[in-house]
Amino acid sequence: MGAPLKIAIAGLGTVGGGVVKVLAAQGAELRARAGRDLIVVGVSARDAKKARGFQVENFVTDPLALANSDADVVVELIGGDEGVARKLVETALANGKHVVTANKALLAKHGKQLAALAEQKNLQLKFEAAVAGGIPIVKTLRESLIAYEVQAVKGILNGTCNYILTEMEASGASFAEVLKEAQALGYAEADPTLDVGGGDTAHKLALLSSLAFGVAPDLSAMTVEGIQHITPADIHFASEFGFRIKLLGVARRTPSGIDQKVHPAMVRARSPLANVDGAANGVLVDAGRAGPFFFSGRGAGEAPTASAVVADLVEIARGSHTPVFGRPATGLGALKPAPADAALSPWYLRFEVLDLPGVLAEIAGHLSQSGVSIESMIQRGRDLGAPVAIVMITHETQQSAVERALKGIAASDKVRSRPCMIPMEAA
Ligand SMILES: NC(=O)c1ccc[n+]([C@@H]2O[C@H](COP(=O)([O-])OP(=O)(O)OC[C@H]3O[C@@H](n4cnc5c(N)ncnc54)[C@H](OP(=O)(O)O)[C@@H]3O)[C@@H](O)[C@H]2O)c1
Repeated sequence: MGAPLKIAIAGLGTVGGGVVKVLAAQGAELRARAGRDLIVVGVSARDAKKARGFQVENFVTDPLALANSDADVVVELIGGDEGVARKLVETALANGKHVVTANKALLAKHGKQLAALAEQKNLQLKFEAAVAGGIPIVKTLRESLIAYEVQAVKGILNGTCNYILTEMEASGASFAEVLKEAQALGYAEADPTLDVGGGDTAHKLALLSSLAFGVAPDLSAMTVEGIQHITPADIHFASEFGFRIKLLGVARRTPSGIDQKVHPAMVRARSPLANVDGAANGVLVDAGRAGPFFFSGRGAGEAPTASAVVADLVEIARGSHTPVFGRPATGLGALKPAPADAALSPWYLRFEVLDLPGVLAEIAGHLSQSGVSIESMIQRGRDLGAPVAIVMITHETQQSAVERALKGIAASDKVRSRPCMIPMEAA
């Protein structure tokens, strides 16, 4: 039996608290798997007096003290892409300590630099809990699906958004109503912007892209749109066409670069991603000749995230040596973004218009001038002079062509609100 692995944990909230509990409860099992004890030599949080529901020993108020302690590993579970979390990770690595973190914001922004620092010092920097909670997608992309080039990764990576969309579908309630209810239940943050605006999904997608395509995580090479504009009407029409609306993070290889997008998408109702419900996460990996693989499960919360952090700790205890993003940081190229129109797709379009003669012809005129052709159409509510919804599905079209047409249509005095456009995903 080797010497114990000495662990220091900064952050004792949802994830950190879970890790402390698992290490205490599963000591014998983890020792059997790692071949050595995993012991907690120090912990830190803001409030020394907070009742936490577990035994707190060796508490220090300054998390940076953990990076200067005799710990072998520092576990950063504070959060934030700058400030104390960044300082802690940098100091721990500089002081020769392995690091485990669940901090996708930090790694999406500074991942390459931190990986380089870790690798220069022959240290591990592991982050399984940062993407999709308990689903082992980081290890899978880093170590398993590597023989053939991954072509695409598509994921439902934010449980809050998926919960809201699932509830909107089940209840017919608006985005604002369901968000309020989710906040009351603790499924959404008091400030939900990072979740519902797509930013959290973007952080996770940047990490998955890096692992899948061997590039440095790059948030700037990504378009990001959230779910705030999705209406119950869109969800209803999606189901009439045999689709469901999901917030997807999509990263794919194209001949002209990597296409990275976060956006609400229409997903075929029978596809695996469409059936990821509530707060769950799902990830579909097109691993080239190896085929497609689908992973789903709990993407957040105490137990799934603690499970992922502890798996990283056991690997470190075993002496694992894997490059942070699956290849040496010095070999992570700059991400070449694909042009906006690299990927064609059919589009769902919804217009709220006054039911007046000529309105359909006007819409059709703008679409055809921009080269957008319509595959099918639904019109609902016929009441002369009153607003009605017109919904169209286009043939495969470039995004810029649809945007051009919608700009013209939105300027019409017969159109009552901002037209809605949502891409339709093949899988
Ligand atoms: N929650 C999830 O399901 C989940 C899933 C995946 C990844 N993550 C990531 O895991 C990390 C932690 O998330 P969490 O949900 O566990 O957060 P949390 O519940 O808010 O806990 C944060 C912890 O950090 C401590 N803290 C905050 N600011 C600090 C500071 N300036 N100095 C020292 N300690 C500080 C807090 O201390 P007090 O307890 O004293 O306030 C608390 O213990 C984040 O990077 C998050 O993105 C979370």
